[in-house]
Amino acid sequence: MKQTTRFSLTYSLEDKKLKQSRENRTEPTTQAPSIPEVNKETVYKTETEEGIQRLVGELEQLVGLGKVKELVKEIRAYVEICRRREQFRLRNDSLVLHMIFKGNPGTGKTTVARILGKMLAELKVLPKGHLIEVERADLVGEYIGHTAQKCREQLKKAMGGILFIDEAYSLARGGEKDFGKEAIDTLVKAMEDHKNDIILILAGYEREMEKFLRTNPGLRSRFPIHLQFPDYSCEELLEIAHKMVAERQYKLTIGAAEFLGEYLQEQLESNKTNFSNARLVRNLIEKAIRRQALRLVNRHIYSREELIMLTREDFSQLDEEESEFKLWQA
Ligand SMILES: Nc1ncnc2c1ncn2[C@@H]1O[C@H](COP(=O)(O)OP(=O)(O)OP(=O)(O)O)[C@@H](O)[C@H]1O
Ligand SMILES: [Mg+2]
Repeated sequence: MKQTTRFSLTYSLEDKKLKQSRENRTEPTTQAPSIPEVNKETVYKTETEEGIQRLVGELEQLVGLGKVKELVKEIRAYVEICRRREQFRLRNDSLVLHMIFKGNPGTGKTTVARILGKMLAELKVLPKGHLIEVERADLVGEYIGHTAQKCREQLKKAMGGILFIDEAYSLARGGEKDFGKEAIDTLVKAMEDHKNDIILILAGYEREMEKFLRTNPGLRSRFPIHLQFPDYSCEELLEIAHKMVAERQYKLTIGAAEFLGEYLQEQLESNKTNFSNARLVRNLIEKAIRRQALRLVNRHIYSREELIMLTREDFSQLDEEESEFKLWQA
């Protein structure tokens, strides 16, 4: 209920400002040529709508993630309808948007959280909508009092936006006596105390996150939204590769795309536990770009086309050790 009050507060503040600015307007003394009056309310709404459309576009640009996109749309629609209901003084359930993101590395969790934060800011659910990404070491201290201090610092930074806790299950790693438990308690308290100013997203591997939620029976109900980030298929990874090279103003030759497709298929079939999905693709492309540079740097005659194309040769020296090494570095 309190949450919805915030909508009306935000909007009535806006209305008040508009009213004041209208009242402060001085009437022209001479007859000025009539200039169509700009309706500030419309401008305000259009800007917000434009911002939202831009973010929806960003989300749509992501390859796959059908269910994630659906749920983000659902959240957006729900927030909007709550606001409209509020205008008619209809009852709304309290809006709790703390979330759990389950998925393997490189499946887009941080990317989606970042877009969501900005969208919730446009919708006036969050004051700022920025994202602070932390992990266990940023929250758990080494002596009594240290954990509370660390958590407070991170919460302060995230106030007005999203506190995104990666590998959140590791907070419960040490059991009852570990300071991780204190971190969980501090965070849960902050979720209650600052529920209008901060959204918590806990992220991690599906199995570990399920186990984590079972360690503390009160936790699950505090996170009503659960999003699954499935592993990408080979086709999706290739599509991501094409997008990533295009963003950097490069292109893949047919040979390079074939080679990359085969390589990714092999990696998928070998079913590695640390397969890092789109992040692996990003690392492979960045490596190929460096190899292309090496290939061209001593040539004195080159064309625009050659500077753009990444060839099979640029990808062909990928070995698993290299990509895994990069994975740990990333
Ligand atoms: N669906 C997608 N379409 C295009 N690019 C994507 C997609 N998913 C991820 N990426 C890109 O892959 C990289 C890794 O994504 P991101 O950091 O969001 O993954 P993550 O799930 O947070 O990984 P981790 O669990 O390891 O932190 C980023 O460069 C991101 O832009
Ligand atoms: Mg991440």
